[in-house]
Amino acid sequence: MQKSEVTIRAIAPYEELPMDLLLLADPSEEMIRSYIYQARIYVAEKEDRLIGVYVITLEEPGRPEIRNLAVAADFQGQGLGKLLLQHAIARARENGASGLMIGTGNSSVGQLYLYQKMGFEIVAIRKDYFTTHYQEPIYENGIACKHMLVLEMAL
Ligand SMILES: CC(C)(COP(=O)(O)OP(=O)(O)OC[C@H]1O[C@@H](n2cnc3c(N)ncnc32)[C@H](O)[C@@H]1OP(=O)(O)O)[C@@H](O)C(=O)NCCC(=O)NCCS
Repeated sequence: MQKSEVTIRAIAPYEELPMDLLLLADPSEEMIRSYIYQARIYVAEKEDRLIGVYVITLEEPGRPEIRNLAVAADFQGQGLGKLLLQHAIARARENGASGLMIGTGNSSVGQLYLYQKMGFEIVAIRKDYFTTHYQEPIYENGIACKHMLVLEMAL
């Protein structure tokens, strides 16, 4: 994948939600709908196909949070996730944020690697977040996903 072939842009209000992508990062459509209408949504587009998404909410002033980040399965592992994160970091800086937050499950080993490698640091644990908010049990890498680890990049 050539970076020059990919455009990252805000989604327009009339566009359909890229639910297939959003569900890759968050298995509950109900949960997605609980934050998506107050969020800013950015998509990565290649030749008229949406191949990535990230979603930003602003619950705490000056500390936006990435609530959803996903890359289409056939484009994973080619640097697009990193590109989307870099875009989110640049936008947060432009907007004068003091930090950028991202949460992930205790079982999301690859994501924890990626986020820490990019400079995010673990700042909190939302204990039992996934067992409380999700009806179906979540397993990843042979580990039960129970808690949300919250990471922050200071800007
Ligand atoms: C997580 C995700 C967004 C990463 O995007 P991506 O385009 O696949 O990642 P990149 O190609 O930019 O990878 C960047 C680095 O992270 C590593 N990485 C990314 N996902 C990984 C995983 N699941 N396991 C191990 N390493 C991973 C890559 O090896 C790469 O490392 P390197 O820079 O040392 O080579 C993507 O895999 C995805 O959509 N997964 C499903 C949805 C999801 O889990 N979203 C996050 C919810 S918290």
